[in-house]
Amino acid sequence: QNPEMERLLQAYEVTAKLYHFLLKNTEYGKAAMEYLRSRGFTDKVIDQFQIGYAPNRWDTLVQFLEKRSYDPAEMEKGGLLSARHEQDGYVDRFRDRVIFPIWNRNGKVIAFAGRIIGEGQPKYLNSPETRLFNKSRTLYNLHQAKPAIRKLRQAVLFEGYGDVIAAWEAGVQHATAGMGTALTEHQAMMLKGLCDEVIICYDGDSAGQAAALKNFPILEAAGLHVKVGLLNEGMDPDDFIRQHGSERFKRQIIDGAVSTVKFKLIYLRKNHILLEEEGRIAYSREALKVIAPLSSPTEREVYLREVSSEVKVDYETLKQECNLLRQSLQ
Ligand code: UTP
Ligand code: MN
Ligand code: MN
Ligand code: MN
Ligand code: MN
Repeated sequence: QNPEMERLLQAYEVTAKLYHFLLKNTEYGKAAMEYLRSRGFTDKVIDQFQIGYAPNRWDTLVQFLEKRSYDPAEMEKGGLLSARHEQDGYVDRFRDRVIFPIWNRNGKVIAFAGRIIGEGQPKYLNSPETRLFNKSRTLYNLHQAKPAIRKLRQAVLFEGYGDVIAAWEAGVQHATAGMGTALTEHQAMMLKGLCDEVIICYDGDSAGQAAALKNFPILEAAGLHVKVGLLNEGMDPDDFIRQHGSERFKRQIIDGAVSTVKFKLIYLRKNHILLEEEGRIAYSREALKVIAPLSSPTEREVYLREVSSEVKVDYETLKQECNLLRQSLQ
């Protein structure tokens, strides 16, 4: 392998160890530790996910790497240090942030996500893309989740690192996340290489729901069967687990995951007032656009019957309209 990449891998490995040590064993890490505790992170997951803390200083990592003879220019290029503005020299890229290491699929640290403690912008400061870290080819925690994903032939896809970690602790170990909500064809193919089904479990806010919708075709194009874990407005999976416990999370959100068609119908229904005629008509029209293209007559009937009872229109009437729409699609 390329020696520059080898050095950078080593630098990430020792830096992850440093940050983890500072969080767990020093005064510097105290506030970060309290923050993590207040969010329900246990010692066990702090170790399992090698969570760390980058102190509120400019040169902790600069000096640490210098002492170990790493070239600072190379480390800057690798995303661990930042060049100073209008001056020579380098400073730590991550300061006063909780550090979540990001691994490649072989379990090597290739990047960091640094979360601000409490409120503030940006919430997460991530490593830039480097020779090691290609966002669109990285799935968080895949190295630890792989065996469970293979065994269950299923993966649960979250938005956030905290969601993956909370799920892991809840006993859902086939959990991973993209780098945020964006999902690429390549990441979908990585999952397809391990399993047949993906449960998308994004945040219950409109951004999360819109992102879920956007990712269905990407996963389906890779040949994966897709289901959706439904969360209430404003709730993240990790919030749900802390609030309702792991058993309920597994039963209600994972085992209770719905089909993408059902999800689309629920999503559409939110925009209409079904107590009003116009709302029922508009919702039916949009629902039919989702149902008509389905190739299985059984599937069409099942969903048409659901819509039929929601909008109080006879099933046969909806079926007729659905068939007309199908003809126009062909
Ligand atoms: P969220 O805003 O949902 O964050 O973004 P979260 O994971 O729930 O974080 P907590 O619980 O508030 O700590 C989802 C994901 O989007 C990416 C991260 O991968 C994050 O986990 N993201 C978000 C960023 O990269 N940068 C940001 O500033 C925000
Ligand atoms: Mn979110
Ligand atoms: Mn969250
Ligand atoms: Mn979130
Ligand atoms: Mn949360």
